[in-house]
Amino acid sequence: MKDLLSVRPLSPENIEKILQTATSFLDVSKRDIKKVPTLRGKTIVLAFFENSTRTKLSFELAAKRLSADIISFSSSTSSTKKGESLLDTARNIDAMSPDLMVLRHSQSRAPHLLAQHFSWGVINAGDGINEHPTQALLDLLTLKQHLGVLKGRKIGIVGDIYHSRVARSNIILLQKMGAKVIIAGPGTLCPDLLLHLGVDIRHGIDEVLDDVDALMMLRVQRERLEPGIMPSVDEYSRLYGLSLQRANRLHRDAIILHPGPINRGVEMDSDVVASERSVIMDQVKNGIAIRMALLYLLLGSQS
Ligand code: CP
Repeated sequence: MKDLLSVRPLSPENIEKILQTATSFLDVSKRDIKKVPTLRGKTIVLAFFENSTRTKLSFELAAKRLSADIISFSSSTSSTKKGESLLDTARNIDAMSPDLMVLRHSQSRAPHLLAQHFSWGVINAGDGINEHPTQALLDLLTLKQHLGVLKGRKIGIVGDIYHSRVARSNIILLQKMGAKVIIAGPGTLCPDLLLHLGVDIRHGIDEVLDDVDALMMLRVQRERLEPGIMPSVDEYSRLYGLSLQRANRLHRDAIILHPGPINRGVEMDSDVVASERSVIMDQVKNGIAIRMALLYLLLGSQS
């Protein structure tokens, strides 16, 4: 495989290989000297056309820990601001002989376009409302660390499912691992047309709590919402927000995930973020290991 654009083509064997490789890289991050020479001489382009903290920093750290060279590109300080198209920007980067690009873009399938045009690899770091495959893989590693085998487990995803690339990649990946996915959110953001994804749809968070082994809360993505599509922030928080009182209704061993950034007091209260059930910082830690594994498997494992 040259690219990682979606979780759809990953076989159970591919997924196990990624998780095993990531687990071995978790040890590198615990060492005094957190660096291995695996990708020395390779050039990785981090091209972020949308804001990011976790994904960008963890890819940068992952590439540095594998000794790759990095070119970092941000749309706000580049010639994109002067009207240069994505393909023209990529043609210029191509002339600089990169080995792989990590691309985040507000247009769904922008990474697919570049993967078709160029010989270097592309990793999708989040495209519009389509997919966020590396987030789903780090979520999977976190879930397996806490729950073990996922076959038969029930995972709840609550919030704006329709606009969530995190939800889409997770639904596909979790089902490949044999888990059952239950989604909930306001009717406009969690419509019945998502039934084709094979999920169980509930319309209130209270209908999910008693039933799940893990609960993934999604960020309310105000930047993608048309006016009137969502209840007011107060109403959203009252009907779908995870308060400590609601979190206490989960099974004793159930865990809580959030991809970040968190709107505290909207989709999740601060005392839930800080609670023992919350594995949000494990997700961040695992993000570096998953991204090291993917860079290694796409670029380094052949040499
Ligand atoms: N989870 C996630 O994609 O976070 P960032 O937008 O900060 O990268």
